[in-house]
Amino acid sequence: MASSAPAWARIDPRDVPHIVTDTIPGPRSQAFNARGMKYMVGYSSQVTLFPVVFEKGHGVTLTDVDGNVYIDFSSGIYVTTLGHCHPKVSEAVALHAKNLMNCHDFNTPVKVALLEKMAEIQPWDLTGMQLYDSGTTAVEAGLRACRAATGKNEFISCFMDFHGKTGHAVSCGKMNPTNGGGRTQGFYMVPRPDPYRPMFTKADGTIDTDAYLNFYDQFITNATTGQIAAFVLEPVQGWAGSIFPPDDFFPKLRAFCDERGILLMADEVLTGMGRTGKYFCMEHWDTAPDVVTVGKGFGNGFPVTGMLVSDKYRDSLKGISASSSYGGNPMACAAALASLEVIQEEGLLENATRLGEYFDQRLQQIKADHPIVGDVRGKGCLLGVELVKDRATKEPFAEAGKLVYQRAFAKGLAWVPAGHILRMSPPIVMDLPIAAKGMDIIEEAIAEVERDFGY
Ligand SMILES: Cc1ncc(COP(=O)(O)O)c(C=O)c1O
Repeated sequence: MASSAPAWARIDPRDVPHIVTDTIPGPRSQAFNARGMKYMVGYSSQVTLFPVVFEKGHGVTLTDVDGNVYIDFSSGIYVTTLGHCHPKVSEAVALHAKNLMNCHDFNTPVKVALLEKMAEIQPWDLTGMQLYDSGTTAVEAGLRACRAATGKNEFISCFMDFHGKTGHAVSCGKMNPTNGGGRTQGFYMVPRPDPYRPMFTKADGTIDTDAYLNFYDQFITNATTGQIAAFVLEPVQGWAGSIFPPDDFFPKLRAFCDERGILLMADEVLTGMGRTGKYFCMEHWDTAPDVVTVGKGFGNGFPVTGMLVSDKYRDSLKGISASSSYGGNPMACAAALASLEVIQEEGLLENATRLGEYFDQRLQQIKADHPIVGDVRGKGCLLGVELVKDRATKEPFAEAGKLVYQRAFAKGLAWVPAGHILRMSPPIVMDLPIAAKGMDIIEEAIAEVERDFGY
């Protein structure tokens, strides 16, 4: 299989994964965890299901404190899209760490260069920008922008969305009791078309996007005051398990919003910056949002996020200060600028697309060969595998999801669980032979678990 990765990230497939301990997590991981878990509370299931302690990352590999080397199919959590410690990004951060770390929201040469680069890569008219330090704060800024642009206060997002963990961002997602007594007033949720688990279907059983939009119309009339500032959506629902909408959803939703004076805000924190083979996932559907948020892969590991708003509405934001302690600091801007330059210089949108074609073909074959695989989906390097007890009933198979995650990890694949759905987000600098090894491990783990459950 030909090499497709940039030279710095290439690795001999015979060298990975490389598991050297008899037990895994190994003894040093266990010792560090015993110390860390004495104090730290609230780990994700990614950690609790496989509590390994990492020490080093290079390109598409992660090394733990016991010397075990894993192929990385997680990019942290969709963050290190260009692989770990890309030399250009690391050097850019180091340079600015020695030169100027923070000067509030004054412009700096590197900030100006980043803003100009973002204006160049966005394909629409999103030239009003603000910079922040987490996806959540960028989402809160996006909501402020929608209010300022429309003078309206209500928002609609979709079942199973995730947009962050502070007040209004959390009100755009699935909540639990610790988030408060309920959703903030004026925030609403509606079902979103999921082709594998459709709520509304046509006579032939296929998903009926128009029926969802008809429902939204009824919902706005009957459940809101009609003062909807924006629909706030993830282009692909990440936390929910890589759920892709039908191709006609976003174009139709765009028209729906335009007819009603509602803005469309695309939260591209997870999907943006090359992960799906485009800078912005919404480009796949040729749909221009009014507001976009970016994060995660934007700084390839350095905390830097952004909010972009249509030129049409930028004046309404003039009175809203974007100043924050860390937003747009020189190190952050340098990381984001270097990351965008790397994507261009190394042809990584093309590599992500090439990888996506390979993953699609492998995932379809895995689905054909394994009865517990109910659905597979992906674009570029954003992928999901949904495990079910029975293909006819589509009953989620959470026990299998947990075991497949753990088995594959123990074989040397770092990745992301989501109950019965397995999520994959390999770095877009991956070589095809390494991608193939990762898929081999996943298939082996699925086959073993399937046998254990008597399929
Ligand atoms: C779509 C989306 N929006 C917002 C966020 C919040 O980002 P952060 O964790 O950087 O605050 C996330 C995080 O996973 C996300 O996936």
